Amino acid sequence: VGAYPIFTREEVTKHRTLQDGVWVTFGDSVYDITDFVGLHPGGSKIMLAAGGALEPFWAMYAVHNQQHVLELLGEYKVGEL
Ligand code: HEM
Repeated sequence: VGAYPIFTREEVTKHRTLQDGVWVTFGDSVYDITDFVGLHPGGSKIMLAAGGALEPFWAMYAVHNQQHVLELLGEYKVGEL
């Protein structure tokens, strides 16, 4: 508890390019996925979520609804909202 820095959604929106870093949110957690963008099995579609919430996209692409995907995402956590 309290181990992660707190960010606002506005701060997250500033990170939506590889140059500025690519951040996303899932629930109340913030992830810096910059290093994963080039590894994504779904290619550059991942950039649609850059700077915002994953939920609307993962609702459309249910392939993400698996434990191994959540564990992978967890490796990139940098903060909380
Ligand atoms: C597939 C991770 C964001 C679209 C996958 C897979 C992983 C993954 C691990 C392979 C799953 C499997 O086959 O078991 C992630 C992570 C994301 C992210 C960590 C964000 C941090 C997105 C977004 C979209 C998307 C935002 C769409 C707008 C897809 C598609 C596939 C896929 C279409 C299927 C690719 C295929 O099998 O041909 N993603 N994803 N992903 N992802 Fe993502």
